[in-house]
Amino acid sequence: MTEPIDTLGRPLRDLRVSVTDRCNFRCTYCMPREVFGRDYQFLERSLLLTFEEITRVVRLAAGLGVTKVRLTGGEPLLRKGLPDLVAMLAVVEGIDDLTLTTNGSLLARDAVALASAGLRRVSVSLDSLDDATFMAMNDAGFPASKVLEGIDAAAAAGLGPIKINMVVKRGVNDGDVVAMAERFRGTGHIVRFIEYMDVGTSNGWRLDDVVPAAEVLAAISKRFPLDPIAPNYPGEVANRYRYRDGGGEIGVIASVTRPFCGSCTRARLSAEGSLYTCLFATSGHDLRARLRAGATDDDILDTLRSIWTRRGDRYSEIRSEATAGWQKVEMSYIGG
Ligand code: GTP
Ligand code: 5AD
Ligand code: SF4
Ligand code: SF4
Repeated sequence: MTEPIDTLGRPLRDLRVSVTDRCNFRCTYCMPREVFGRDYQFLERSLLLTFEEITRVVRLAAGLGVTKVRLTGGEPLLRKGLPDLVAMLAVVEGIDDLTLTTNGSLLARDAVALASAGLRRVSVSLDSLDDATFMAMNDAGFPASKVLEGIDAAAAAGLGPIKINMVVKRGVNDGDVVAMAERFRGTGHIVRFIEYMDVGTSNGWRLDDVVPAAEVLAAISKRFPLDPIAPNYPGEVANRYRYRDGGGEIGVIASVTRPFCGSCTRARLSAEGSLYTCLFATSGHDLRARLRAGATDDDILDTLRSIWTRRGDRYSEIRSEATAGWQKVEMSYIGG
């Protein structure tokens, strides 16, 4: 069976599966409380794909070239029985990288079960080591020490080296960049500094809030000299750097200042079973209806193939082209 290629020549390699739209944090850049408040209607359970349905989509996607699966949310560890899903996905033929992105709050509880079920590694979000700053960002009163416990538990369970994701926001946590680098130097874990992106419509993103990766690198290398190193695999999202003194490595994810759409091989499956071909897509393709209407494997394969072969997304590149030289136009162009 030939593997589908999209209109820009990109194959499908990476499937990111959201298992819940809920989260126990309210990060201001992701789920601001004004929008995701008490009255916010999250998906009902019956609307979520079951573990069997997710596994079926992953198995079929593997037949089309997917080798990497990342479980996400919301906060994926809020989904009941998640280790059972991990166990089901771990044995899907062709999937050689199975990982999870979490806020770390429940990792101390779940790390052993996840590792035993066959999870290979985890990425943990942590935006600051300073409690005042971290709590202002997660807006859930959650201290950094608890996330650090989760990271330790994951490492002890064999889920390391762990990637620690820090979204850097101007005037909020940009002063914590060097401390974060310093804290994880020599631990074997890899901090990745992420440019704040204009995902969704509710975070009030402004270009002024973005701290360019070049600035992050300059600040760190002033203290701890760095050398660039080659990607682990083609299309890796992070640019890697190594401490000259052997203290390990860091990464920067420059999705705003140096977009990487050209090598984007990712598709996203929402918790309710819609397939999105770009992080910034405005609509998805409903797979759940097909799965529940008795579609055969061939039907689903045809659907996936036709979605992917028509894909032409490259949002981050378009945004940058539109911004080049004249920020003001761009700001209104993307809706502020
Ligand atoms: P590895 O498999 O460990 O290399 O991780 P990864 O970089 O693929 O995944 P992760 O989910 O940790 O991604 C880190 C961050 O990169 C995300 O939180 C996003 O901010 C950003 N990112 C990941 N994928 C995309 C993408 O397709 N488009 C854009 N614009 N940003 C992305
Ligand atoms: N810009 C960049 N990264 C983001 N994340 C969530 N929202 C944004 C944004 N607006 C990151 C989280 C986590 C991962 C799931 O996505 O910090 O690391
Ligand atoms: Fe969003 Fe992750 Fe923060 Fe939850 S922990 S609000 S999913 S960024
Ligand atoms: Fe891929 Fe869309 Fe992100 Fe570009 S903006 S890297 S096409 S998900």
